[in-house]
Amino acid sequence: MRRTMDCGALRATHDGQEVTLNGWVNRRRDLGGLIFLDLRDHSGMSQVVALPEREDVFARAERLRSEYVVAVRGRVRLRPEGQRSERLESGQVELVAEAIEVLAEADTPPFPIDGSVDASEVNEDLRLRHRYLDLRRPAALAPLRLRHRVTKAIWDHLDEAGFLHVETPLLTRSTPEGARDYVVPARGRPGFVYALPQSPQLFKQMLMVAGIDRYFQVARCFRDEDLRADRQPDFTQLDLEMAFVDVDDVLSVNESLMAHVVEEATGITVPTPFPRLGYREAMDRFGSDKPDLRFGLELDVLDEVFAETEVRAFRGALADGGAVRGLRVPATEAALLSRRDIDSLEAHAKRYGARGLAWLRKTDEGFSGPLAKALGERERERLSRLADETGDLLLIVAGPWATACTALGAVRLKLRERLSVPLAGEHPSFVWVLDFPLFERDDSGAWTSMHHPFTSPSETDLEHLESDPGAVLAKAYDLVMDGFEVAGGSIRIHRRDVQEKVFGILGIPPEEARLRFGFFLDALRFGAPPHGGIAWGLDRLVMLLAGAQSLRDVIAFPKNQRGADPLTDAPAPAEAEQWLELGLTVAPRVEAATSTKAAEETPG
Ligand code: AMO
Repeated sequence: MRRTMDCGALRATHDGQEVTLNGWVNRRRDLGGLIFLDLRDHSGMSQVVALPEREDVFARAERLRSEYVVAVRGRVRLRPEGQRSERLESGQVELVAEAIEVLAEADTPPFPIDGSVDASEVNEDLRLRHRYLDLRRPAALAPLRLRHRVTKAIWDHLDEAGFLHVETPLLTRSTPEGARDYVVPARGRPGFVYALPQSPQLFKQMLMVAGIDRYFQVARCFRDEDLRADRQPDFTQLDLEMAFVDVDDVLSVNESLMAHVVEEATGITVPTPFPRLGYREAMDRFGSDKPDLRFGLELDVLDEVFAETEVRAFRGALADGGAVRGLRVPATEAALLSRRDIDSLEAHAKRYGARGLAWLRKTDEGFSGPLAKALGERERERLSRLADETGDLLLIVAGPWATACTALGAVRLKLRERLSVPLAGEHPSFVWVLDFPLFERDDSGAWTSMHHPFTSPSETDLEHLESDPGAVLAKAYDLVMDGFEVAGGSIRIHRRDVQEKVFGILGIPPEEARLRFGFFLDALRFGAPPHGGIAWGLDRLVMLLAGAQSLRDVIAFPKNQRGADPLTDAPAPAEAEQWLELGLTVAPRVEAATSTKAAEETPG
C-alpha cells in the first residue's frame, strides 16, 4: 500500500476522501471497543481509528505495538464534536482504517519516543546510542531542519554574490589553529601521518593565490581539544575568503549574509550594520572578548580611583602594570545576594584566575565590607559616586589586566543567571569585536598568535612589528552572537617578508617554517593578492538560532562529552593487524587501557 499522503497533512478538507498513510505507530490506545493509533512520519501525526465492525482490521490493529511501521488505507472523517484537537494540525479529522499492513515490526524502544517523557530525563548516552530513534522525536528533528535552511540560505546568498564553493582535502597536513591535530597514519609510509584539517585556512589562502576571487566552503574541521557544550571534535564551518579586500569589505559581506540567513531560517529581521567594539573596550566594559550586550551590569575601570591606594592587593596589581575592575550591583538586585552568594561568586572569579573578589556595600554612613576600613578618603568619595545608592554592592577584582577583566566578566554572567536579569536586547544580538592584539604571551612568556600566524598586522603598526610586538594590532575580527563567538577571521599577510618576520617573532625559525609551511610560503612567492576571510561556526550558529543548549542537539550524529560516539562506539581499538600494516606499535599500557575501555562501553 503506497502512501498517498503524509501523516501530518490530513485536514478537514479531506473529509470523505480515501487515503493511504505510511508511518510509525507513535502510540496505540484501546478505548471502549475502539482502537486509536497515532501514526507518525517526518511531517507530523494523524489519528487512525480501527472500528470493531471491521474484524480483520481490528484484529490487526490489536497486534500493533509502538514503533511498528505500518501502511493504513482508509477514509477520512471529521472527528465527533468534543474529540477534536487543536494541538495537532490534523486534529480535526481521523482516518477510519479499512486495511492495515505491517511493513516492519519493532522492538520496544529503550526509551520512550512518543512524547510521554521529556528527552532531558533520558540518559544522553542512551539517546545517542540509539540516535536514529532519538531523531524520530519531532523536537530532535527540528534543529536539523533549521540547519538545512541555514545552509541553503548560505548557498543561495553566496552563489548570488559570486562565491565559488570549493572542497579542500581532509587528509592533509597540520593547520595551526591552536588545538591538537587528529592524525591518520599513512599505511604506505610507516611513521608518516596525515593530519585532519583544523580548518581549511591554508588551502583557502592558496585558492586566493590561484585567482579564485571569492571562495566558500561548508567545511568539516577537526580539533582535538578540551570539550565544552559549544565544542565538538569534528564540527562544521562556513569558511570563506575574498581577494582584493580590506576589513570593511569582509564585514559588510558577512553582515548581509547573516541577515539573509537569519531571516530565511527564522523570519527574524536583523538590523545591519552590526555594532563594533574594540577588543580593549569589550574587555574593559564586559570582561569578555565575546560580550553579551543584551543586558547591562557593565564593569567599571577603577585604576584611577585606586591609583594611590593603601589596599595592598590593589596597589600591587597596579604597580605590576595590572588593573582594578569593579562591577556595581544596584541596591534592589544586591538585596537578593547573601554572603553565601558573594562567596560563590568569589569562587567563580577564582576559577578564572582572580586571587579574590573584594566587595563593598554602600551604607548611609559610607561603605561596609572587608575592604571598607582600608579605604582612603579620596577612594571613598570616588566610589560613592559610582555606588551612589544605599544598598549598592561593588564587586572588585585586581590583577593582571586580562585576568581582572575576564574574572569579573565571568562574575557578570553568573550574576545575570543568579539574579535572572532579563535579556532586554534584541535576539539575535550581533557585535563585531575588532582591533585584537596580533600577539599575546603564552605561559612561558613567549609570543603566540592571538588568532593564527597568517593574520595581518595593521599597516600603521608594521614599523614597530619587531621592536614592540605587544603593541601591534591585528586586522582580525570576531563576530559575537548573544555572547558566543560565532565567527572569526582576518585580513591575511600576503607578503612573504612580513610573514617571515611574524614567524620570527613567534620563535619559528626559518628551517622550521620551511618544514611546516614551506608549500604555503612558496605560494606567497608567486604573486598573492591582498586577501582576507572568515569562518563561521555553523553548529554554534544553528545551536543559538534553535535556542539549544548544546551543539549535540544540532548535529545528526554527535560525539558525547567525552568525545566518543556511543552509537558506533568510536573510537574503537585497532586490530593487531592494522598496527602491523601501519608499521606502528602501541605501548602496552595504552593498549590495555583501550581494550578495557572498549569492554566497558560495549553494550549488552
Ligand atoms: P576559528 O578557530 O576562530 O577560526 O574558528 C571559526 C569558528 O569556528 C567555531 N569553532 C568551533 N565550533 C565547534 N566546535 C569546535 N571545536 C570549534 N572550534 C571553533 C567557532 C569559531 O568562531 N581559519 C580560521 C578562520 C579564518 O581566519 O578565516 C578559524 O578556523 O564559532
